[in-house]
Amino acid sequence: MSKTNTEESATAKADLTHSEQHYFDSYDHYGIHEEMLQDSVRTLSYRNAIVQNKHLFKDKIVLDVGCGTGILSMFAAKNGAKHVIGVDMSSIIEMARKIVDINGFSDKITLLRGKLEDVELPFPKVDIIVSEWMGYFLLYESMLDTVLYARDRYLVEGGLIFPDKCSIHIAGLEDAHYKDEKLNYWHDVYGFDYSPFIPLVMEEPIVDTVQSNVVNTTRCQLIEFDLNTVKLSDLSFKAKFQVQAKRQDWINGLIAWFDCVFPAPEGRTPVGFSTGAHSPYTHWKQTVFYLKDNLECETGDILEGEITCAPNKNHNRDLDVKINYSFRAKGVDANRRRRIGENRYVMH
Ligand SMILES: C[S@@+](CC[C@H](N)C(=O)[O-])C[C@H]1O[C@@H](n2cnc3c(N)ncnc32)[C@H](O)[C@@H]1O
Repeated sequence: MSKTNTEESATAKADLTHSEQHYFDSYDHYGIHEEMLQDSVRTLSYRNAIVQNKHLFKDKIVLDVGCGTGILSMFAAKNGAKHVIGVDMSSIIEMARKIVDINGFSDKITLLRGKLEDVELPFPKVDIIVSEWMGYFLLYESMLDTVLYARDRYLVEGGLIFPDKCSIHIAGLEDAHYKDEKLNYWHDVYGFDYSPFIPLVMEEPIVDTVQSNVVNTTRCQLIEFDLNTVKLSDLSFKAKFQVQAKRQDWINGLIAWFDCVFPAPEGRTPVGFSTGAHSPYTHWKQTVFYLKDNLECETGDILEGEITCAPNKNHNRDLDVKINYSFRAKGVDANRRRRIGENRYVMH
């Protein structure tokens, strides 16, 4: 019997909270998978990393956490894995079954429907975990929780995780025109004052493509997660940042992005990719946090502070972000330009 025949889900949808149902429903439609597959920076990075480590995949048991259409499972099977288990809660896995079958991998890939946390794997341990779990600002969606669960429950001692190093970076940006447009709109809506909306708009980070020339400070790595060792509690973090203005300009907000790196054989450059404005387009784009202040900067001025990030208490897949900043202007008019502020955001 084909190992990819339709089976019952290990998780009853009705048992999920409304927001969990909504989350998994969002992966039912092919459109979101089309966008991810067509993100060639993303998809080819996984393929290249697996190909680069073909010798490590050979005859290994691989777990694909959140397999979607099965693309990563097939990369692993094609590159020598003995067996791959793909797990997904969303109904897209029914398409993955068909795709795996017509591509001739049904003997090598077992697809299980359900939450990773609920399924029973046909192997007690796996040698390698592959997963594409990253959300906007890296941690939005909280799917890393599931990968860490899989690591702790199933990965053999010394097993590999693809990717295994992920970091969040920030810089300052000039974006006065769009910021004004977004905020000022509410001052005059068909002649009415809608300004109570402005604090709500400010609270939501914007996910969009940013031109690299509007980034006007140095960059700063906020945090790096080593997936081999990171703990769930580390995903709620506080991190200090400091960036320096590269020209006379306005800093209207902070732009954030993430980088990912895959394990590599000794002496080889690891496969990795960046989702920054300086790098080719990815569907994650960049995340912009507008600051309440517009900072008038001169070359060399310092913007520093602390970012606090944690899953939202009511909606675990949303993120609460707080940015405390101090803008240390220099020169004769430094006092006029200095600012200290605190902004709170919710990504949902
Ligand atoms: C970002 S998509 C990646 C899909 C596929 N691996 C790819 O690279 O195209 C994440 C997938 O993980 C699934 N997923 C998220 N959390 C899960 C969990 N706890 N258990 C099972 N599947 C999960 C989602 O349904 C979604 O299909």
